[in-house]
Amino acid sequence: MHPITRSGARLRLRELTITDVEALVALYGSPAATEHLSLEPRNREQVEQVVAWSVAQATVTPRTEYALAVIQSETAELIGSGRLALDPHQQRGATMGFALRPDVWGRGYGVETVRLLLSVGFNDLRLHRIWGARSPLNQASAKTMSAAGMVEEGTIREHVLKAGEWRDSIVHAILDREFFRSP
Ligand SMILES: CC(C)(COP(=O)(O)OP(=O)(O)OC[C@H]1O[C@@H](n2cnc3c(N)ncnc32)[C@H](O)[C@@H]1OP(=O)(O)O)[C@@H](O)C(=O)NCCC(=O)NCCS
Repeated sequence: MHPITRSGARLRLRELTITDVEALVALYGSPAATEHLSLEPRNREQVEQVVAWSVAQATVTPRTEYALAVIQSETAELIGSGRLALDPHQQRGATMGFALRPDVWGRGYGVETVRLLLSVGFNDLRLHRIWGARSPLNQASAKTMSAAGMVEEGTIREHVLKAGEWRDSIVHAILDREFFRSP
């Protein structure tokens, strides 16, 4: 499915474009934003490569990668990114990722972003199950996914290799019926 757009009270999701590189460097180049992610801070060239790949993946059929820009409606500014990646080994399942620029944290945008991503996944893509994996230390992510109705399911041991060390992940997930009955 392409293009994807979805609006909430203060944010909207849209497809990434190559002109988003600069705004995304402010996000993925930030040590604070990437502290608990599986990746190290990225430079401009690395961000450019990821965006180019994401833009190309958006029009592949069947589409499995949904990398979306998070736009603050009032300012039309890109403040974050979200991703749904369909799982090739699971029917109607996807993993979710999201990150916002540190200067906008703490205003409820994280929960709105996750809700919008879930809405894309369940309403547009007709998924059955969406899950996200976070670092055990990432309390902001834990609270954000819980506030959006995602249930903590357990631990994947030594899931992520970061800075030469294996790190566990905590899984949060939500099913379609849980999403549609949530207030
Ligand atoms: C996770 C992230 C998106 C949250 O964004 P946000 O806009 O600050 O989140 P919200 O304002 O919607 O807050 C959501 C909840 O998290 C809590 N929270 C936010 N930051 C927190 C922190 N540093 N420590 C503990 N709780 C925190 C809020 O209090 C709120 O909880 P509540 O509903 O119980 O009040 C943001 O911190 C981020 O981009 N982090 C870096 C990338 C990342 O970790 N992504 C998740 C990968 S799994």
